[in-house]
Amino acid sequence: MGLPEERGRTGSREQEEAGAQSRVQSWSPPPEVTRSAHVPSLQRYRELHRRSVEEPREFWGDIAKEFYWKTSCPGPFLQYNFDVTKGKIFIEWMKGATTNICYNVLDRIVHEKKLGDKIAFYWEGNEPEETTQITYRELLMQVCRFSNVLQKQGIRKGDRVAIYMPMIPELVVAMLACARLGALHSIVFAGFSAESLCERILDSSCSLLITTDAFYRGEKLVNLKELADEALEKCREKGFPVRCCIVVKHLGRAEMGTSDSPSQSPPIKRPCPDVQGVVHTVGGYMLYVATTFKYVFDFHPEDVFWCTADIGWITGHSYVTYGPLANGATSVLFEGIPTYPDVSRLWSIVDKYKVTKFYTAPTAIRLLMKFGDEPVTRHSRASLQVLGTVGEPINPEAWLWYHRVVGAQRCSIVDTFWQTETGGHMLTPLPGATPMKPGSATFPFFGVSPAILNESGEELEGEAEGYLVFKQPWPGIMRTVYGNHERFEATYFKKFPGYYVTGDGCRRDQDGYYWITGRIDDMLNVSGHLLSTAEVESALVEHEAIAEAAVVGHPHPVKGECLYCFVTLCDGYIFSPTLIEELKKQIREKIGPIATPDYIQNAPGLPKTRSGKIMRRVLRKIAQNDHDLGDTSTVADPTVISQLFNHRCLTIQ
Ligand code: WTA
Repeated sequence: MGLPEERGRTGSREQEEAGAQSRVQSWSPPPEVTRSAHVPSLQRYRELHRRSVEEPREFWGDIAKEFYWKTSCPGPFLQYNFDVTKGKIFIEWMKGATTNICYNVLDRIVHEKKLGDKIAFYWEGNEPEETTQITYRELLMQVCRFSNVLQKQGIRKGDRVAIYMPMIPELVVAMLACARLGALHSIVFAGFSAESLCERILDSSCSLLITTDAFYRGEKLVNLKELADEALEKCREKGFPVRCCIVVKHLGRAEMGTSDSPSQSPPIKRPCPDVQGVVHTVGGYMLYVATTFKYVFDFHPEDVFWCTADIGWITGHSYVTYGPLANGATSVLFEGIPTYPDVSRLWSIVDKYKVTKFYTAPTAIRLLMKFGDEPVTRHSRASLQVLGTVGEPINPEAWLWYHRVVGAQRCSIVDTFWQTETGGHMLTPLPGATPMKPGSATFPFFGVSPAILNESGEELEGEAEGYLVFKQPWPGIMRTVYGNHERFEATYFKKFPGYYVTGDGCRRDQDGYYWITGRIDDMLNVSGHLLSTAEVESALVEHEAIAEAAVVGHPHPVKGECLYCFVTLCDGYIFSPTLIEELKKQIREKIGPIATPDYIQNAPGLPKTRSGKIMRRVLRKIAQNDHDLGDTSTVADPTVISQLFNHRCLTIQ
């Protein structure tokens, strides 16, 4: 297949041709899922979607009636300005209405829905035999008790509380206790360093820290309290003593205790100019996570839901805590990792709790794919109905494996595209309605109105590729950047006045399906042809020897930019000149000669954020042997970086 010379962009046509060979087959929703689905057909989805964007006030107003509001909204249900040329950007849903999210996800479920005895969480510890469960009533009691503790420590509405804990029920208790008091929780993933914790405490001037003595992640003991102490010491050195530190004894004994922080002096109020937090509002966020949870996972009362994300990330906030609880769902809360004690852990948990809806990231799927089908098929998985993914474009290869092996071809796959900033899902299939195409996040969720723009900001119709933007607000949209509204406007609204700009590239195919092509800054420009990293990586991963691939642009005297590829091999394969040639051939065939990589490096590990996103920024530097990496505090495993530096490709292959 040759590359059409007349086209400045590769993308749709090549992908379709590749698709004609193997890729873009569409899969109907499984009849077992459709039968009981809230939205059982594409037509019904279209009707609901049309109403949700044409009459957003009525659509969301009806949903809002299901929730508890302390005072209702006195004025208009929705007002907004998305256009910087017309003044300040603002989004107001239900302005003036007041509520409490903790009340809505606990008291309302226990008292109004009468679900007090229902299990809120099955907790599965790092070791398979460590388990507990907690009902909605018990959770409510613990939250009330712990909010009293916080109150005694002086925490009031508007105060910020840092939480640095592993995935244990007390983490959920701590966050909901904050929410109950109207305090803001800043949850710092327990894999972060003392330095990162200190930065985050300072960023939002937290007056209290809640942490844990220690925990195991796989075989590794993490002395969290030591890291917390170090962070508190650093904060003190920087003139910001945290008032109090509460330590949950987890490895020692599971009970809440308080300990004094290194300093008892009151916090110093400091201005926070560098703060970058995304600000969500309680009412809009709650409506949106509850509604997306219900429809995207097609929630039914008997479901057992499991989202593997850590609560420290937005996915955990929205789909471990708030979304499921707002629906009165039963979820699994998992402390461990997918590879401990062995690589079939996830599927053994699925069987143990009869998980019906499962939600994870492409990185986890690719990791497990490396070990073949047997660790999956060893377990029944008969309970599974819906499988979700989030966080990155999922390459069709991984999608097909997820569908064929994990889901035994009888589950719906929901590839959910969204961002921290959007609060909840934006583009996603609905499991009983949407015919799926592997690698496509398919269609917009209710209330979401996407468009694809070209560089000059014109909306493109039909088949097109360009910038993904949203034309009107949905309830879960962020309202500002904490302490920096200008930055909010500049980042999301300035480039194309009138639109929320995601920063992601996107393609729409002839059937109207949306395909995320990756972050705009990850686009490659080879001899004037724009290529998306997702496209090239996907072609590499289709080779049986490749488990994971990351592609970055590298300066080239003639082409401007050329492709530098990092590949992680599957178990049992060897990196060799023959393999390099096969990979090049594969890319030439699937995408076109223009995309032939100049460099392919063996990468036993890739630098990733702790939420599993490949850090292409770091890879670009490695390719150029530039050791000035900037901030690498979010890299999950820093040792992979030096390993990659040591084995750089020096000459064009
Ligand atoms: C990427 C995670 C393709 C995208 C909830 C987005 C995806 C960024 C998908 C947000 C998906 C997330 N397909 N790309 N299904 N989901 N992304 O803020 O680039 O951690 O802008 O939120 O992840 O990442 P964040």
